[in-house]
Amino acid sequence: MKGIILAGGVGTRLNPLTEITNKHLLPVGREPMIWHPVKQLSGADITDIIVITSTHHMGSVVNSLGSGQRFGCQFTYRVQEEAGGIAHALDLARQFAGGDDIVVLLGDNIFEYTIAPYVDAFRRQEKGARVLVKEVGDPERFGIAALDEKHILEIEEKPDRPKSNFAVVGCYMYDDQVFGMIDRIEPSKRGELEITSVNNLYVDRGELEYSFVRGRWADAGTFESLNDANALLLGNDNRILS
Ligand code: G1P
Repeated sequence: MKGIILAGGVGTRLNPLTEITNKHLLPVGREPMIWHPVKQLSGADITDIIVITSTHHMGSVVNSLGSGQRFGCQFTYRVQEEAGGIAHALDLARQFAGGDDIVVLLGDNIFEYTIAPYVDAFRRQEKGARVLVKEVGDPERFGIAALDEKHILEIEEKPDRPKSNFAVVGCYMYDDQVFGMIDRIEPSKRGELEITSVNNLYVDRGELEYSFVRGRWADAGTFESLNDANALLLGNDNRILS
C-alpha cells in the first residue's frame, strides 16, 4: 500500500495568505498543515509516500518535509505544472503507484482520529475502492453521497440541491483500476478532472464502499474551516486520537 498526498491548487479562497505560500504550509495548531496527512498515513503503516504540489511552492514543501526521515517515511515528490483537478493531480502518481493499492489524502483535510481503521477495512476489502463519509451542515461545498448500508450509490459534486448531508471527504482508497478510470473521465463544467467522476465509475461497478468518519473533520480550504482545523489540532496538541 502506498500513500499519495495532494497539495497542489492555488488556494484562491485563502487569498492573500496564499499569495506567498502554499495553503498546505499554513499553520494548523503547532505545525504546518501538510504534516497532518503525513502523520495520518504513517499512523496507518503507510510510509512510502508521494507528495504532489505546484511548481511555485515545491521548494517550500520540500524544505518543510525533507526526506521523510523525521516522520519515519520515504518521500517522493512530483510537480503538478497546472491545476487541473484532483484526478489530474492523482494521475501524476501512476508510475509511483506501480500497480499497488493506494491511499490518497487531500493535504488540507484534517481528521481528529486516526484513519488507520478505515485503511484496515480497505485492506480486508477484496477489490474496488473505499471513501470516507461525514455528515455536514453545508453540503453544497462538497461531493455528496447517496448510500446504502455498505455501498455508495451515487456522488454529486457540489450539488445545488443536495440529496443528503453526507459529504465524501478527502481520503480515498483505490485498487489498481483507478488509473484506467482516470483515462475514461472527461473534464467537468469547471474544467477539472473530478475525483467524483472517478468514484462514480467505481459506483457503476458496485465497488465503492465507505466508512463513516469518527470525530471531528475539517477541510481547511476557507477562512472559517481553516479556523476550525486550527482549533481542532491546537486543542489536541497536534496529536491524532486513536
Ligand atoms: C474536493 C472534492 C469534493 C470533496 C472535498 C473534500 O473539493 O472535489 O468532492 O468533498 O474536496 O475536502 P474541493 O476541495 O475541490 O472544493
